[in-house]
Amino acid sequence: MSKAPVRVAVTGAAGQIGYSLLFRIASGEMLGKDQPVILQLLDLPQAQKAVKGVMMELEDCAFPLLAGMVATDDPNVAFKDAQVALLVGARPRGPGMERKDLLTENAKIFTVQGAAIGQYADPNVKVLVVGNPCNTNAYIAMKTAEKFGRVNPKNFTGMLRLDHNRALSQLAAKTGREVSSLTKLVVWGNHSPTMYADYRFCLSNGDSVKSLVNDDAWNRDVFLPTVGKRGAAIIEARGLSSAASAANAAIDHIRDWVLGSNGEWVTMGVPSDGSYGIPEGIIYGVPCVTENGEYKVVKDLEIDEFSRERMTVTLNELLEEREGVKDLL
Ligand code: NAD
Ligand code: LMR
Repeated sequence: MSKAPVRVAVTGAAGQIGYSLLFRIASGEMLGKDQPVILQLLDLPQAQKAVKGVMMELEDCAFPLLAGMVATDDPNVAFKDAQVALLVGARPRGPGMERKDLLTENAKIFTVQGAAIGQYADPNVKVLVVGNPCNTNAYIAMKTAEKFGRVNPKNFTGMLRLDHNRALSQLAAKTGREVSSLTKLVVWGNHSPTMYADYRFCLSNGDSVKSLVNDDAWNRDVFLPTVGKRGAAIIEARGLSSAASAANAAIDHIRDWVLGSNGEWVTMGVPSDGSYGIPEGIIYGVPCVTENGEYKVVKDLEIDEFSRERMTVTLNELLEEREGVKDLL
């Protein structure tokens, strides 16, 4: 017997990331090749015509797993009974902007959507915020939803998986090892140039990647800036912010959360439980292991002086962002 469909809400459905994301969700790449889905697509009123066009293309793929679609400009409709919610819709930055420049502009979107999720989504909805600045937007949505006391605040997450994937790719190139051989990478903190990609625990077929690299100057002067500024480099090259790689990271994040990471570490931006000295509730990138639809933070990793410094810089940026939106909450 086929499974009951899962309701997946996607915001910004007419945007660039939406266009890379929706077809992969409908084909089963996110929730499994035996899992039907109903897509609940949210975008602004002026984008509804474009959303209809995307829906026509989705129809034309005749995806066996696509059990239904809804297009709406009303968040209360889009999030109704949603079991997975991908909050992509927001303004992207252009050349020369930092992600925090988007804060005030995009923050209001997440109070409205947080309230809709808090009232209408499935109580166990898994929320991934992609729209930037994603950690703080996830925080805003979580705090707003919390007021309704229905949904689990632990399930509001921000997307650090693109940084994680970017770091994996740089490390594979540096060490000459396969990406698939690399495990136990962490990206701490904010999805911003302050994030700290940490390969101290990373292994490749049992070998320490730190020993294989054996170059602290490369870590500090090449690796961290390359991963941290990759989003800007893509904007510079494409004239548009990353889209297919962002959609891919969103698929990876939700797939691993729902289907499990098989003991591997994955980076997720999750509300801090106080581990590693990060104040509770701040959405901070940490290593997680996922199983049975739940994530668990990997605890008790040793934090050396360099790492603590980096983790504090990215934390301070998040505290500053939180301060910047406190009037909205
Ligand atoms: P885009 O401009 O192509 O599309 C955004 C879509 O969101 C548009 O269709 C727009 O109409 C819609 N939208 C705007 N406000 C909305 C609202 N209130 N409700 C519903 N829909 C709304 O942008 P994009 O390239 O798809 O990027 C979307 C967001 O993702 C940006 O904020 C971008 O910075 C961010 N992003 C994050 C990551 C990450 O790793 N976290 C990576 C890439 C991009
Ligand atoms: C990215 O990392 O590619 C996105 O967050 C887009 C951006 O503004 O950098």
